[in-house]
Amino acid sequence: MKAILPGSPADTDEPVVLGEAAEPQPADDEAVIEVEAFSVNRGETLQLEGGLDRRRAGWRPGKDVAGTVLRPAADGSGPADGARVVAHPPAYGWAERVAVPTHSLTELPDSVDAVTAAALPLAGITALRLLRAAGPLAGRTVLLTGASGGVGHYVTELAAAGGARLTAVSATAERGAKLMQLGAAELVTSVADVSGPYDVVLESVGGDSLSTALAALAPGGLLVWFGQAGRAPVTLDFFSFFEGPNQARIAHFDYTASDATYGQDLAALVRLVAGGRLHPEIGTVRDWTRTADVIAGLRGRRIRGNAVLTVG
Ligand SMILES: NC(=O)c1ccc[n+]([C@@H]2O[C@H](COP(=O)([O-])OP(=O)(O)OC[C@H]3O[C@@H](n4cnc5c(N)ncnc54)[C@H](OP(=O)(O)O)[C@@H]3O)[C@@H](O)[C@H]2O)c1
Repeated sequence: MKAILPGSPADTDEPVVLGEAAEPQPADDEAVIEVEAFSVNRGETLQLEGGLDRRRAGWRPGKDVAGTVLRPAADGSGPADGARVVAHPPAYGWAERVAVPTHSLTELPDSVDAVTAAALPLAGITALRLLRAAGPLAGRTVLLTGASGGVGHYVTELAAAGGARLTAVSATAERGAKLMQLGAAELVTSVADVSGPYDVVLESVGGDSLSTALAALAPGGLLVWFGQAGRAPVTLDFFSFFEGPNQARIAHFDYTASDATYGQDLAALVRLVAGGRLHPEIGTVRDWTRTADVIAGLRGRRIRGNAVLTVG
């Protein structure tokens, strides 16, 4: 079958190539899905540059797929042949077919198309779990950095619906425009411009962004640290805490840590979309032969929200 194969980590012009791969060999609890659309996440662009999974022999990218069940799981779990599904396999999803554990997929209603569904898994599950980590948000103030990405749009809409007053940080007003429509109370183009204090900070840019955002946290507040999109490591000054976020908590966040099965969260996301309460922001939809261009666009901060590729 055809599949997207990783290129050389050093080759930023050709991070992936469309090539041939072996058909999936499903375990008993895995269904084989005919992939109609998939999305590309920032974490996968990092893996392609040499992250952990990349070093495993035979690894291919692909965590977010939507399509049709071609072969149901041998153990009888999961949907039947022909069911439309969205799924979150651990890898190998940028391909014509992929095997997915049935605990990490859910059926799609007719009203949710494959392109919309493919934009949901990694970014949407991360958003749900981030908000659980943040705790109740009704009436609370939230600062979200890196807000114009896939995760940021979902967090914004869900947090606003939960009653938070959310300040979004995005490089430009254009990149952040949809965030205001989704319920952000305020959009700033630099984290240095925020006033605070915030009850909760959700930080994923790293470098100066984290330390600046931390300074805007209320005493005893919570900073959830979930990424480092800007690559630069964070430096913190212990003594600066006494002038602002005294007794603050910093929680490291990994969406896979609490539960490595994803079917329930996927079903929740699909329900929200079908009910008109969650609106995936899909910044680009391209044929999968253009996957390398889309990766370049994500790396260059030219894509707003999610990036979806269609197969065939
Ligand atoms: N911990 C976890 O479990 C987990 C799970 C999923 C994702 N993540 C992380 O969460 C973050 C958001 O993920 P995502 O999929 O939404 O990524 P994304 O779509 O690429 O969004 C990241 C956003 O960060 C902003 N940004 C600021 N400085 C940047 C820089 N120097 N380089 C690149 N982007 C920069 C960009 O917004 P502007 O251009 O508007 O500033 C961009 O839209 C990423 O860091 C990702 O690795 C973590």
